[in-house]
Parts: sequence; structure tokens; C-alpha cells
Amino acid sequence: MKPVVLSGFMATGKSTVGPALAARLGVPFVDTDALIEGESGRRVPDLWRAEGEALFRARESALVTRLLADPTPRVIAFGGGTVTTRATRHLALDRAFVVTLTADPATIVSRVKDVNARPNLAVENPLGRVVELLEARRGAYAEAHLSLSTDSVDVESLVDAIVAAAARDPLVMPLGERTYTIEIGNDAPTLLTDSLAALSPSTLIVVSDSNVQRCRGAALDSALAHLAIQEGARVILAPGEEFKTLASVATIWDAALGAGVDRDAVVVAFGGGVVGDLAGFAASALLRGLRFAQVPTTLLSMVDSSVGGKTGFDHVAGKNLLGAFHQPSTVVVDIAHLSTLPPRDRTAGLAEIVKIALACDASLLDLVEAHATDLATGAPGPVEAVVRAAISAKIRVVRDDERELGARALLNLGHTIGHALEAHGGYSKYRHGEAVAVGMMCELEATEAMGHTPRALVERTRSLLERLGLPASVSPAEVASAWPFVSTDKKRVGDRVKLPIVTAAGSAHVERVRIADLRARALR
Ligand code: GLY
Repeated sequence: MKPVVLSGFMATGKSTVGPALAARLGVPFVDTDALIEGESGRRVPDLWRAEGEALFRARESALVTRLLADPTPRVIAFGGGTVTTRATRHLALDRAFVVTLTADPATIVSRVKDVNARPNLAVENPLGRVVELLEARRGAYAEAHLSLSTDSVDVESLVDAIVAAAARDPLVMPLGERTYTIEIGNDAPTLLTDSLAALSPSTLIVVSDSNVQRCRGAALDSALAHLAIQEGARVILAPGEEFKTLASVATIWDAALGAGVDRDAVVVAFGGGVVGDLAGFAASALLRGLRFAQVPTTLLSMVDSSVGGKTGFDHVAGKNLLGAFHQPSTVVVDIAHLSTLPPRDRTAGLAEIVKIALACDASLLDLVEAHATDLATGAPGPVEAVVRAAISAKIRVVRDDERELGARALLNLGHTIGHALEAHGGYSKYRHGEAVAVGMMCELEATEAMGHTPRALVERTRSLLERLGLPASVSPAEVASAWPFVSTDKKRVGDRVKLPIVTAAGSAHVERVRIADLRARALR
């Protein structure tokens, strides 16, 4: 079990819930303010007045870094403003299960006995100050695995809720007030039931394709059967990248509007990357933006497309040229869906994991190599851990660059040439992941020729892709005929393309490379 962090504004109940939770879990309880007082020999209000907020926060960050370096299970109560430091907040989300306790401003003021002991509240209008601070910290507090109001709930019920949620061990995409959890389980339909119920939708518009409906429809029905919400419409699209079109988006719009959706409706994307991208884009425009849930059923959509908010559809000029960033409100990954996935699709999904690992997570690359045989044969053992690690790596990229202004472009490794090969093959020759694998090798060969990527890493990647059962080479003639699609790639800027350049395992940067230079190097 990970450490549990209790965060939230002063007087939201951290020092009441904390000891009760620790007792239930049989672990120690620590309070960062008390530790700071013990270590400094001074009271927090005195430190605050003497040092100012910035130095106090630095002291707090150093303490939290030290505490979370130790994975020993315990309950840690943060100070009210600890999570206002971004690095501290993200460290806690990476290493602990973070719960934000909330309370009404009036409740908070009524619970604070001595405002002078609370440096932030020693003002003429404490209630106004509480409202102002809560507003300023709203985004930071929202970045948690769980948020619970303590206004009128007894301590034991709060402890029950925290213990149940911590046992599921979800991941979090921290994006301020648009933060969402990624629940990961295996044959656990209640994860979907509970995640949808938590959104309190007025109705559901469920989008799937005929393959997914046939293979996994029963699992979906069993999750939805326990919801007290009527399904407004179920849209079953034709499967495959060739149907990732505006016409499919319009089918979703027609069904949703025909069902009379209102702004509290939730669109559920139940399927692979194509369904997720189409349903997410449809949701982004419906009534100027409905919430949507990603329920990925392929390996590729679990580790990549369902997380991060890229939505859209293809155009004859190229893949994903039309779309929007629209983050899901929840992502629910059930590994059991992979049991009916055709082996070729499952293998294709492994390419996106290698891509994420190569671009930004050396330990994930080691993990995939260590389990390559099982991953290639579809043995159930390591998949859940690998999926979890791959999503965690993607979260770290997206949280820092949601709109792909910088480092998120690293996740396009293999996609510039891969998308061109896919489009040139009429979206039927390659599975997306296969095109990414081949594109990744072409791009690595090119960046090796430019003097950036070590030869040994190019060979290590080729060998891993082959062990996983993925294609790792393509004829120069095919790349040459696919090349016109590189010029319409959405990552193109003038005569250059933003290309991820891998310099070591898990380490890469993005450069604007002349398309002509890339072509010359890729076609050597
Ligand atoms: N699939 C790459 C990204 O989400 O940025």
C-alpha cells in the first residue's frame, strides 16, 4: 500500500480523519506542520511571520520530498497550502494516494477557534479571506485521487470511502479543475459503474463499434445494468480506421441530439482508439462541450489514445487532421477487454508502449524488455503492470504540456513517417501500431544518421520490436511513395517538421528538422 496524503484547506478535517484512517489501516500518522515545528523548534505561525510564505513553502517541500522518498505506508496530513507548490503536488500524486478534504467556507471559519494561530486568517474578514484562498487554490486541490466533503459526513464513513478508493489505486491526470482519474482493473465491471455514477450524468450516449459490441458488449451491459441512469442512445459504428470520418462523428451527433441530450449528459467511448477519438470529438462539440468517459478496449487505446484528450477524425489529406483537445472526465481501463482482442491488434498496441518508453521512460523500456516474451504471446502476467507504467509515463508528459506546445510532441515519435505509411496504405495495410513501429525505426535510423541517436539504441529497439512480434523495417521504395503524406502532416511548420530525437533510452527532445533532410536520411 502507498502512503495516503490528506490535503485540503485548514479546518477541513485532516487532523481528525488522519488519525482515524491511520488506526484503521494500522499505519502511523504524521502531520507535516507538526514535523516542521518539531524540527525547527518554532511554531508554524512564528516561522511564517519570520520567514515569509516562500521560505515556509520551501521548508515544507523539502520535508515532503524526504517523507515521500520512503514508500513506508503511513497517513500524512499536509498543511493547508502544501499543494500550492506544483512540484510537491505532483510528487505526492506520483508517490501517494492523495485525498483532498473539502468544507464549506462558513464551516471552515466556524471550526477555526483561534484565527491568530492561522497566519492566513488573521485578517478583518476571515470568511472573505477563506473564500478568496479557496478560489485561488481550487485547481491545486482538484488535483487529487479523491475529493471528499467533510461538511456533514461522519469520520468513519469518510475513512470507509478513502480505504475503498485507495484499494483501487487509480492514476490521476492532474489538470487543475479538469483533473480526472484513470481507474485500472482486471475483470472489474464495477469500476465503470462507479466511475460513471460519480459523474451524475442525466443520460448516457454510448458509442462503440460492431466488433467491440460483439466481443465486449456483455461486459459493458453488466457495468451499465447497475446504474440508476437511463441510456439515451447507443451508437454502433462500423469498425476500422477507414470509418474515422466526419460521417461517423455526425452519426454520434444525430443520435445524441435525437435522444434530447442536455448539458449533464455523458458520452461513453467504449472501444479502441478510433471510437475514443470520434466519440471524444463528438462530445467536444455537442452543446459546445459535453463530458465524456474513455473506456478503452484495445491495448493501444489503454496506453495512449484514451489518456490526454486528443480527439478527432481523419481527412483524405491525412490522419487526425481535424480535431480538438477535449479531456475525458474519467478513463476506465479493464484489462479483461484484451482477452478477446485479436493477437495482431494486441501486438500493435505494444508499439505505443515502446514509443513512450524510448522517448521518456528508461525504466519502462527495461520492464518491456524483461517481459517481452510474455507480452508477445499475450500471457496475462505482466500486462497490467506494463499498462500502468505506460499510462504513468504519459501522464507525466501531458500534465506539463497538455496542448503539445513542447515536450508532448515527444509522443509523436514514429508518427511522422508512421502516419504517412498508414495513409499511403489506405489505412488497411498496417494497424496503427505497426505503422508506428516501422515509422519509429525509420525515424531512429534518420536521427542516428544525423548524429543524435546511438547506433546501439537503434539496434536495441529493432531487436525489442522483433521480439514483440512487430514489423521493424520497410522498403525505401514504400517510404518514398508514402512521402507526400509527410508534407501534409499536422506537425509540419513550413518546410520543417517537429521531430522527436531520441538521444538515450528514455531521453529525447524535439527539433524542427527540414523535411528534405529527414527524407534524405530516411531513404539512405
Ligand atoms: N498520442 C500522442 C499524444 O497523446 O500526445
